[in-house]
Amino acid sequence: MARILIVSNRVAPITEGQVSTGGLAVGVLDALKKTGGIWMGWNGSVGSKSGDPCSQDENGNISQITWPLSQRDYDTFYRGFANGVLWPAFHFRSDLIHFRDEDYEGYRRVNRLFAEQIQRVAKPDDLIWIHDYHFLPLAQYCRELGLKNRLGLFLHIPFPSPPIFRTIPNNDALARDMLAYDLVGLQTAGDRRALHDYCERCLGASSTDGAITLDGKVTRTGVYPIGVCPEDIQHLAQEHKNSREVVKLKSGLQHRRLIISVDRLDYSKGLIERFRGFERLLDTRPRFRGAVSFVQIAPPSRTDVHGYRSLRQMLEQTSGRINARWTELSWTPIRYMNRSFDRPTLMSFFRASQVGLVTSLRDGMNLVAKEYVAAQSEDDPGVLVLSEFAGAADELAEGALIINPHDTSSMSKALQAALDMHAAERRQRHQTMMQVLKKNDLIAWRERFLSDLENPPSGG
Ligand code: ADP
Ligand code: F6P
Repeated sequence: MARILIVSNRVAPITEGQVSTGGLAVGVLDALKKTGGIWMGWNGSVGSKSGDPCSQDENGNISQITWPLSQRDYDTFYRGFANGVLWPAFHFRSDLIHFRDEDYEGYRRVNRLFAEQIQRVAKPDDLIWIHDYHFLPLAQYCRELGLKNRLGLFLHIPFPSPPIFRTIPNNDALARDMLAYDLVGLQTAGDRRALHDYCERCLGASSTDGAITLDGKVTRTGVYPIGVCPEDIQHLAQEHKNSREVVKLKSGLQHRRLIISVDRLDYSKGLIERFRGFERLLDTRPRFRGAVSFVQIAPPSRTDVHGYRSLRQMLEQTSGRINARWTELSWTPIRYMNRSFDRPTLMSFFRASQVGLVTSLRDGMNLVAKEYVAAQSEDDPGVLVLSEFAGAADELAEGALIINPHDTSSMSKALQAALDMHAAERRQRHQTMMQVLKKNDLIAWRERFLSDLENPPSGG
């Protein structure tokens, strides 16, 4: 296979001991570990000039090339257009869009800069795999610079329905530029349908199941639900099941049952709704008072982007109110932590819990849901309670308890069902989900995408 060149805004640290808390970074790192390749992107720092100095890091077969963003580019490209316009719109929250012309210009400017960086590094046969909403027009800039490589985009987040996509200023220009890619990959069939619908209805493109044609240019599209490495996770969780952190967690629980949730602190994750669902459980089912603890791990994310600070305040208020209402001298209902844990610890926490609770209001995939399942023991697995609005629900509907996160009472019923579920049913559900995870693991995801990118259908 050709050399792989990956481009994303956020790159995972490749040196041991550092933690990434985003699905893209975690997924791409695991996918690259097996084949090796080059990974280019932002180094996470804000400097005086974007792209300079560019530094290179090596670890085994992965080579990373990263650079800073200038304050202006960080403010306009990252904070402004990517996370202040595209992120809310793609998560069906047009009400949170904050659009400024200079942010859109910054988004375009940084895409052009990334194209120049790619041009410096790419060899003619490299397969170039670009990730996420930060880079919708990047292929167009690469073409303008004369790059002839195969160029693929994988969108980690949902693609919104056409009326919502249309709320994004300059939506038509963005979608047209997106069609400069050879292949656009999406998480679910629904996301792909939405992209095709928009291109047909709003751009006048023609489309078949697997391609969109506009002005004679054919862009292939595909559904590639991102996976995890279930065996590696199982192994990690098993190996660390008696680690110091797990012992601390268990001693705090004092044999109580545990519901666990882990997310970046983001309004797409339905954290407030989740707290209310747990409160409803305590309210309506008194036997769980003092008998169940809910641990929410939520490291702050994008703290300087509109909407995130107020969410954090609301979460503090809501968890404080619920705890003030129900706490007993020997029991705190919600343990709400704004921090991250290393991967082995997180996986062993999943294994130590009886319920994994994922309540996204919209989510491209939600890797936490898959990790939770993979971390369970086969004999005594926990139950996954999963929002129907996470991409993972498409694959895990048979084994998880599926909920609508806006329906507090159905969430509390599902929590009760999960906490009361007999071992035989838990094992059955777990097995069903593990089969799916093993069949479509991270390696299969990478192979399918790259093989479709490398081998266009005849005539494509
Ligand atoms: P998103 O990409 O929106 O952040 P995902 O659920 O798809 O959501 O991916 C999140 C990834 O980050 C998972 O691999 C998860 O294990 C990791 N992660 C999330 N929160 C934490 C945390 N507090 N500590 C360590 N890792 C975390
Ligand atoms: O997976 C979705 C995603 O937006 C990634 O693109 C991103 O790396 C991650 O969440 C974390 O967000 P950020 O890079 O803005 O910290």
